[in-house]
Amino acid sequence: MNPAISIRDLHKAYRNGSVVTPVLNGVNLDIAAGELFFITGPSGCGKTTLVSVLCGTLNADTGHVEVLGHNLRTMSANQLARFRAANVGFVFQQFNLIPSLTITENVAVPLRLQNHSPSFARSAAADMLNRVGLGSKLHARPSTLSGGQQQRVAIARALVHQPALVVCDEPTSALDSETGREIMNLLTPNAGDSTRTVIVVTHDPRIQHRAHRIASMEDGLIHQSLHPQADH
Ligand SMILES: Nc1ncnc2c1ncn2[C@@H]1O[C@H](COP(=O)(O)OP(=O)(O)O)[C@@H](O)[C@H]1O
Ligand SMILES: [Mg+2]
Repeated sequence: MNPAISIRDLHKAYRNGSVVTPVLNGVNLDIAAGELFFITGPSGCGKTTLVSVLCGTLNADTGHVEVLGHNLRTMSANQLARFRAANVGFVFQQFNLIPSLTITENVAVPLRLQNHSPSFARSAAADMLNRVGLGSKLHARPSTLSGGQQQRVAIARALVHQPALVVCDEPTSALDSETGREIMNLLTPNAGDSTRTVIVVTHDPRIQHRAHRIASMEDGLIHQSLHPQADH
């Protein structure tokens, strides 16, 4: 089986005027389709930079980045935007919901981006909100919900278009442990659903036993990859 993600010798530095900050220093990484893959490492080590490159929101300097059979390094900005809309769901620490929209409208955004009709998008969004336990809040604005509820909205938005890849950047750090557990239950691919690949960036030791594999980042490199559970 082809890996969902294959990264070779990836380098990335940020440049502000004459200041160069090297962040990724030759990362190699393979992630299989269906894996629940965690990336840990100290703040500032480059985790967000790495996942931004593999989603196509940030350009690398050199190296090979193949995601779901696409060579991201050779794609135009328009092609990358279409690739993301069709294939990637995002969950961020700060939820990134649109405050002026209801939660149903927020969750409908990925479907509208793919040109589904408003009525289809609204009903699929409502179905997904039901599945994350927010069926009674369909017309609420994000600011009226708790942090855990807002993160469930963000997860519904990430999953509503059934993307092959879901990328979560510190999705539970702002949440209490019970809510963090619920969030991981929603993100974990179902048994037998071997197609959705989920990448979770986290410092959160409370959820790390959920991973199929854990990689740790340091000095711009992936240093190790452990299998915390033998029975996956
Ligand atoms: N846009 C940027 N311009 C300059 N430096 C940046 C930028 N974004 C991140 N950095 C720096 O790159 C390093 C890695 O950042 P990041 O990938 O966000 O790390 P992490 O997610 O592991 O905390 C940090 O030193 C950070 O300050
Ligand atoms: Mg980060």
